[in-house]
Amino acid sequence: MWSEEKLHDLLTTPSKRLIDDLSRLDGDIMILGAGGKMGPTMSILAARAVKEGKQDKKVFAVSRFSDEKTRKELEENGVIVIRADLQSSADIAALPDVRNIIFMVGRKFGTDGSEALTWGMNAVVPTLVLERFKGATFVVFSSGNIYAQVPPSSGGSRETDRPFPIGEYTQSCIARERIFEYYSRIYGTKVLIFRLSYAIALEYGVISDIAQKVVNEEPINLGNACFNCIWQGDANESALRCLLHATSPAATINITGPEIAGVRYVAERLGELLGKAPSFTGTPGEAAYLENSCKAISMLGYPSVSLETMIEYQAQWIKDGGRYINKPTHFEEKKGVY
Ligand SMILES: NC(=O)c1ccc[n+]([C@@H]2O[C@H](COP(=O)([O-])OP(=O)(O)OC[C@H]3O[C@@H](n4cnc5c(N)ncnc54)[C@H](OP(=O)(O)O)[C@@H]3O)[C@@H](O)[C@H]2O)c1
Repeated sequence: MWSEEKLHDLLTTPSKRLIDDLSRLDGDIMILGAGGKMGPTMSILAARAVKEGKQDKKVFAVSRFSDEKTRKELEENGVIVIRADLQSSADIAALPDVRNIIFMVGRKFGTDGSEALTWGMNAVVPTLVLERFKGATFVVFSSGNIYAQVPPSSGGSRETDRPFPIGEYTQSCIARERIFEYYSRIYGTKVLIFRLSYAIALEYGVISDIAQKVVNEEPINLGNACFNCIWQGDANESALRCLLHATSPAATINITGPEIAGVRYVAERLGELLGKAPSFTGTPGEAAYLENSCKAISMLGYPSVSLETMIEYQAQWIKDGGRYINKPTHFEEKKGVY
């Protein structure tokens, strides 16, 4: 039987490989943009790993924390919460000197019509932060959508492929990457660019979006016929472990699961588990945003949760009355309008 507590516990229970890696990491950890969908569980995961590894290390979570409940929960779990607006140089100047930083603040949805805000968040904020923390080690969240859409037969885009950003959101993601690369080259800042494709956490995510359509008997668009995804616990663990792999000049890694998930397959499998017959619309596109995750898997090992397990978890989550936070991923979008 799923509950929010059980999901939360699963997402924040550290593996041995995380505990071992964090005990090899020198210095405290700070997570910037920690108040969103991934940051709270990442912060608690880090704090629990540090505690279980008996490490003398602080974990700071920095965000505006408009949600008071999140702030309280973080503090109860040993995370040091700092309320800050990362668009403010004064707030950035007041942050503690921390060696290891996960940079996950960013803006995607609402870009269409307010492009300047997205560029400000994704290109200006990195510059402000890097000016303050030139000597730090960064894992920088980016997106798998910076690549061209490719057919499944390609095996997915590789880190060495040329970016092909469509629309201003992904263009601003490239700006963020290039700014981090620039500081890494000029000042020796250690950087790992973390190109993530779709975290899955039952309350939101591509599988949750498809499941809502199955349950509500809405047609599912096959235009974007396949995708990659990764369990949020694995994505968060990977980000923390990647602090050990940041380099100057900057390194880049694709972070996603090893499977290519067909939208039709995922919908039909959810339909079997939920006792519903999904319906479809659109012609399956030949190309999609797909990442090749071979480099990450050889560096970090396989994710702990398979695609099939994520689908089973999702169906059971819905049967058990689990909530949907209604932040759709818009994974169907192929023209870069967010
Ligand atoms: N989730 C995915 O599947 C996925 C896939 C690819 C890339 N990414 C990227 O990975 C990062 C983390 O993902 P996420 O899903 O957790 O993103 P998210 O839900 O958008 O979280 C980012 C958080 O940053 C904080 N923030 C925004 N502006 C801020 C400011 N001026 N000062 C301080 N904090 C600010 C916000 O929390 P407060 O309201 O508390 O400030 C926001 O919730 C994002 O950059 C996202 O675009 C995510």
